[in-house]
Amino acid sequence: MSSKKRARVYVGMSADLIHPGHLNIIRVAARLGEVTVGLLTDEAIASYKRLPYLEFDQRKLIMGSIKGVARVVPQKTLDYTPNLQWLKPDYVVHGDDWKTGVQKTTRLKVKDMLEEWGGELIEVPYTPGISSTVLSQRIKEIGTTPEIRMKRLRRLLNIKDIVRCSEAHNGLTGLIVEHTKVKIDGQIREFDAIWLSSLTDSTAKGKPDIEAVDLTSRLNTVHDVLEVTTKPIIFDADTGGKVEHFVFNIRTLERLGISAVIVEDKVGPKKNSLFGTSVEQKQDEIDNFAKKISMGKKAQVTEDFMIIARIESLILKAGLVDAVARAESYIAAGADAIMIHSKEDNPGEILEFARAYKSFKQKVPLVAIPSSYNSIYENDLAGAGFGIVIYANQLMRSAYPAMMRTAESILTHGRSWEADDQLMPIKEILTLVPDGPAGVRDDNGGLKPVEVDPEAVKKRAPGVI
Ligand code: SPV
Ligand code: MG
Repeated sequence: MSSKKRARVYVGMSADLIHPGHLNIIRVAARLGEVTVGLLTDEAIASYKRLPYLEFDQRKLIMGSIKGVARVVPQKTLDYTPNLQWLKPDYVVHGDDWKTGVQKTTRLKVKDMLEEWGGELIEVPYTPGISSTVLSQRIKEIGTTPEIRMKRLRRLLNIKDIVRCSEAHNGLTGLIVEHTKVKIDGQIREFDAIWLSSLTDSTAKGKPDIEAVDLTSRLNTVHDVLEVTTKPIIFDADTGGKVEHFVFNIRTLERLGISAVIVEDKVGPKKNSLFGTSVEQKQDEIDNFAKKISMGKKAQVTEDFMIIARIESLILKAGLVDAVARAESYIAAGADAIMIHSKEDNPGEILEFARAYKSFKQKVPLVAIPSSYNSIYENDLAGAGFGIVIYANQLMRSAYPAMMRTAESILTHGRSWEADDQLMPIKEILTLVPDGPAGVRDDNGGLKPVEVDPEAVKKRAPGVI
């Protein structure tokens, strides 16, 4: 064996779905010297694409067992800088497919940095016919299982600044939340999870949001959404009803693979929160509600399922002190997250709650539903300490006016011709939902993609890009 010190070689990888392309890169790297794999953490990956299927420790085990890999270290950001500064490798090896797209600037930075100590970037030609994206699509064809889906919400909470949810109230809106993506400055942005709103589910069934739609009917919607999606679901359980019934409902929802329920601390005939004090609404006693939470926690079978306590003190003008006392008590009772609701047109009071929350000894993620105070950006909610944001009713609120306009146009004109320019072409609706079960479709689920003009976004929302 030669006494010459072996060259240091660095390979940054996600290594979620290992394929021959990865092995080829490792083979090239191993010929150059001792290979250190910088394995991207879940957080680093989710900063620019979907959450990996395998958890970090599982990916690490696989990479560490591959011939030619000397060691595996975490790479905590898409940016290679910290790991390169630490290892000062003689070579960095990467597939040549990063010359374009989201990794373009990362690549330039790596090149510049290597020059500092005379290192070299070796780019391996892309292995044709195979890619993680294609494999990921094939995996979607297999669909998901209740267990995998359920666990995904906790995984997302661990790694994302803020988990972004949108309501769905039937299969089609489920498909929209599952597949809609926008590309902004090379980064894909999409919803992380689905909110099964009581308001939009009831409204879609032509009923008011007063717990008049029973669990069996709500579960019909859940099944429709489960059937065509793979993303985690948060179920709006309203008041949760009687404790004796709540514990059974928890089991049912958990068995289906729902990740979380949100249950609100009101009693009696429930009205939608956005009515505020303009209608008669009663908050539960703190101890009663805490008991409901703890009984629910006892009823669940897995560690993964979450029960989120929703505090209505600000809605019912009971004040911040009451809201804080309730949060403490519900967390002590086992709540896995706290949703603090507000119907103000600015985020002042929920931000005030979030500030008070910072001094809590025992903390769980905070959830916001910015329906009325919707000027706040997700980044600002995340900065204030919120871990989940729910867009609770916007899909339904955009569909209804469009449908009404069309109905009125048909009645007004005695024909549908005048409404045509507001409608999608017949040939598009015929193929909007393609053949085959969830996932056996192209990457956007067959849905018409939404083109985003970054210039227009910059103008309308200067903070976003
Ligand atoms: C829902 O979407 O049904 C909710 C949120 O519970 S809210 O309508 O604001 O009460
Ligand atoms: Mg509701």
